[in-house]
Amino acid sequence: MGLTGAAGKDGTNGVDANETCKMCHNPTKVDLISTQFQLSKHKYGEAAFEEAGNTSCAPCHSQEGFKYVVSSKVPSSFTLNSTTNKYVNNYTSISSAAYGELTCATCHSSVHNTYTSSDLPSLTTVAPVSMTMWGGKKEINLAADGGNSNLCVKCHQPRPFSNALTGNVLDYNLLATTTGVVYDGNPVGSTNIIKPSYRTHTHYGTVGAIYAGTGGVEFVGTLPYTSSKHTTAASCIDCHMGAKGGQSDLVGKAGGHTFVAKGNLTTCNTTGCHSTAITSTSTTLWINPRAEIKTLLNTLASKLVIGGVEILNRNPDATANLWAGTTTNNYDGYLNIYDPITNPTGQTYNASSFRYVGNPPSTWSAAQIAYNATLPIVTLSYTQMGALINFQLCLREYSLGIHNFAYSKALLTNSIAKL
Ligand code: HEC
Ligand code: HEC
Ligand code: HEC
Ligand code: HEC
Ligand code: HEC
Repeated sequence: MGLTGAAGKDGTNGVDANETCKMCHNPTKVDLISTQFQLSKHKYGEAAFEEAGNTSCAPCHSQEGFKYVVSSKVPSSFTLNSTTNKYVNNYTSISSAAYGELTCATCHSSVHNTYTSSDLPSLTTVAPVSMTMWGGKKEINLAADGGNSNLCVKCHQPRPFSNALTGNVLDYNLLATTTGVVYDGNPVGSTNIIKPSYRTHTHYGTVGAIYAGTGGVEFVGTLPYTSSKHTTAASCIDCHMGAKGGQSDLVGKAGGHTFVAKGNLTTCNTTGCHSTAITSTSTTLWINPRAEIKTLLNTLASKLVIGGVEILNRNPDATANLWAGTTTNNYDGYLNIYDPITNPTGQTYNASSFRYVGNPPSTWSAAQIAYNATLPIVTLSYTQMGALINFQLCLREYSLGIHNFAYSKALLTNSIAKL
């Protein structure tokens, strides 16, 4: 080892790697939005966790499943399987992409692609949505705000009912325009296209269909099927993301990246739509239309009765029933059918127990089978099934008609008249 030499020349300053990070990682941008996002059910909801691995739930409930159906352009069609001779629903993810909670990267496709500001917002999709409930035969395209509502509707759309005989999507036009029976009360009846159970329901995301003014069983009646101005003039983001500037724009637990509209009517004015302020005491644009839809829901429910027993299920428990309080009797959109596990208070006969009778062993106890046998049997006509679907759609859009008053009112009014 020789003597230590003289110090070398200073090198040229490098580019500070942290500079671009700070465009996003600062207290007013990503840090702030991440905190707001804690109030979003996309973050705290548990379905992504519970349904991990389930390829049919993944397109809407998991990040990787959603990204998969978007990037692989998975069609929402049903196709005939020649071996089973039944139709199958193609709108599923694959098992290696059926997990992941809903996070920033679910909706923003390019986070950390280049580590520059151009990575945001880059929405994962704003393309028109081919509707899974129609097997892809109809699409929703909400053009306002550059189509960014289509991002929401890709997930916030109803799931299909399938025909028990063919496996294909249930034909709503058939229910609306012809006379017939979907379930004749006989568990082994050969013409039953629906086998009713507690969970015979239109899945939670009904907002997209109602908002777009499509997706109901459109009985001909006194009211035409038109849509309110919201459908073309407003976007989900307008009312659900409030002003996106900062924490101070949050109204209670609503606005910004909480995605919550409930409790925040400031957006009705700030987006330049309604010129006079709307509050929770405004009659013409809040109290009256909501009261009208609530009355229609109550009336329709009172007509969905068989042999004195309600078809619709009541559930006053506000933690289990997301629509507790929406109707007077707290309907949850499920059916009043007995099930020892999922609906032990159900008051009508569960036809699926039939396969257990005399067939040992079953998951039901003898007492449960005997109790079920004492319950009245539900039958369902095309009209009752159609009205039931319309009730579920209009209940589960949450807003009592604010999303699309004209469409909800027409579906409910014409269903009541038809029944
Ligand atoms: C275009 C905006 C943007 C830029 C630029 C950016 N990030 Fe991020 N980063 C995000 C977002 C969005 C998240 C997710 C935040 C969350 O989940 O709450 C994130 C999350 C992170 C995380 C948490 C781990 C993870 O992946 O979720 C780390 C660590 C991180 N970034 C480091 C960096 C570094 C280092 C740089 C710069 C070299 C950088 N980021 C540049 C937007 C950005
Ligand atoms: C990847 C699918 C997906 C996308 C895209 C999506 N959502 Fe959601 N959203 C969900 C799911 C799933 C839930 C329920 C999560 C749970 O309970 O686990 C939910 C919950 C919500 C809730 C809370 C509902 C409640 O019961 O409190 C609101 C509000 C909401 N989303 C609005 C939006 C808006 C607005 C957009 C578009 C900007 C959007 N969502 C985009 C899947 C999605
Ligand atoms: C087409 C999209 C889509 C598919 C497929 C889908 N869901 Fe959902 N689901 C949603 C949306 C959107 C919500 C939340 C809607 C809301 O609260 O407004 C939701 C809500 C739920 C909830 C209620 C969570 C809560 O907050 O209480 C459960 C449970 C659920 N889904 C289970 C499932 C299961 C199980 C499957 C698969 C068999 C499935 N979902 C498939 C879109 C979907
Ligand atoms: C359910 C979908 C969804 C999720 C999840 C989501 N965003 Fe967004 N984000 C949007 C939409 C929609 C916009 C508005 C885009 C527009 O105005 O064109 C947006 C806008 C933004 C913007 C630009 C506007 C602004 O407010 O500065 C940033 C930054 C952003 N999001 C960050 C995030 C971060 C960080 C997360 C996770 C903590 C996140 N987003 C989660 C849908 C989502
Ligand atoms: C014109 C304003 C407006 C538009 C546009 C709008 N919503 Fe809403 N939405 C509301 C209001 C108001 C409520 C709450 C009703 C209440 O307080 O009972 C609501 C409720 C909801 C809920 C229940 C959770 C919550 O925040 O209370 C979901 C989920 C939802 N909307 C999804 C959507 C989706 C998806 C779109 C776009 C297809 C959309 N909304 C468009 C006003 C709007």
